[in-house]
Amino acid sequence: MLRLSVSLLKATLESAADGILAVDLERRIVLFNRRFTEIFLLTDEALARRDDAYALDCVRDLMRDPDAFRSRIEEIYRHPDASSFDVFELKDGRLIECYSLPQHLAGVVVGRVWSHRDVTARVRAVQQRDQLLQEERRARADAEEALRLRDEFVAIASHELRTPLTSLQLVMQGLERRLAPGLDIEQARAAVARCNRQIRRLADLVDALLDVSRIQAGKLELQPSEVDLGAVVRDAAAQLADQLAQAGSELIVHAEGPVVGRWDSDRLEQVVTNLLTNAIKFGGGRPIEIVIASDGRTARLSMTDHGIGIDRGAQSKLFERFKRGVSAKHYGGLGLGLYIARVFVEAHGGRVHVKSELGQGSTFTVELPLSQAAPPPS
Ligand SMILES: Nc1ncnc2c1ncn2[C@@H]1O[C@H](COP(=O)(O)OP(=O)(O)OP(=O)(O)O)[C@@H](O)[C@H]1O
Ligand SMILES: [Mg+2]
Repeated sequence: MLRLSVSLLKATLESAADGILAVDLERRIVLFNRRFTEIFLLTDEALARRDDAYALDCVRDLMRDPDAFRSRIEEIYRHPDASSFDVFELKDGRLIECYSLPQHLAGVVVGRVWSHRDVTARVRAVQQRDQLLQEERRARADAEEALRLRDEFVAIASHELRTPLTSLQLVMQGLERRLAPGLDIEQARAAVARCNRQIRRLADLVDALLDVSRIQAGKLELQPSEVDLGAVVRDAAAQLADQLAQAGSELIVHAEGPVVGRWDSDRLEQVVTNLLTNAIKFGGGRPIEIVIASDGRTARLSMTDHGIGIDRGAQSKLFERFKRGVSAKHYGGLGLGLYIARVFVEAHGGRVHVKSELGQGSTFTVELPLSQAAPPPS
């Protein structure tokens, strides 16, 4: 009968999916199964001593945090009456769930039985699911933010397009009324100039929208030729002479000599125009300085205004699509100028950055390799 019980116990032990270890109060190993040795990569020799402390020394180096493992085991042994539950991580990435119960004989504790289970696959699956869930949540939040920005942009763009249209309508209606009784030529000339300004504004807005859709479609192609950066700045400044005069900002350009590189002059003029319209718009009517220089490899254009400046936190976002640092109520604009400027500069293998203090003004710097090497961004 006893032999039958022992054989049944042995069979049960060996068929268990968990690694089992029984230890008496002197910390002698009373019993273990094959699975236990497999989990902790223990040899028969290591267990032949039947010494739990020695077995613990053998597994020590397997553990991710050997000291924490050892002190936790000692703490469990200090409370012979208590059960325990832990998950230990091994250096090879496995996670072992470790459960122990005091062994009683006639109501007295005579040792402890440990059972160990490799739960790596289960835990990793849960971790993976959590990570996927988090990524999905983040992607959804990003998509919602993109949608919100787009909706806001459509509203701003419609308003921006509507404003010059309304001005145009008013000037044209005024002209129409005055046509009948015989029109004063000077008044007509002024009205046509006003119309042209609004038409130019409309064309600029539509160009910006076209540029963005071209960039988004990956259809930005540069047409490089020998270009003098100083000439580009002069052309952009001439186009904006009216706006400069209206704002009362003086433009001072410093250039030691020609800075010539292989660039797309139209795109570069757009970059300078976008920076300069900002300097005019946010420059508070104070002087604007442009410095052009070259170190033989890189051309550098920096534009400084002494206007409202930009909050530190907002600075890194300004070069993204639709991002603005001011409210639409106070300043017009689509929030596209700096984004387009950055993409154009990067398409030339260059970079653009800003230094600014709130209330003190801003300096935008464009750096361009003299010979354009980088391909347009994808
Ligand atoms: N020189 C500057 N001084 C202060 N703030 C600036 C300056 N340049 C840009 N900013 C800030 O950066 C934001 C983004 O500029 P960006 O040129 O991209 O857009 P915008 O001028 O608002 O509109 P758009 O140029 O499309 O008409 C601006 O709304 C403004 O908050
Ligand atoms: Mg702008």
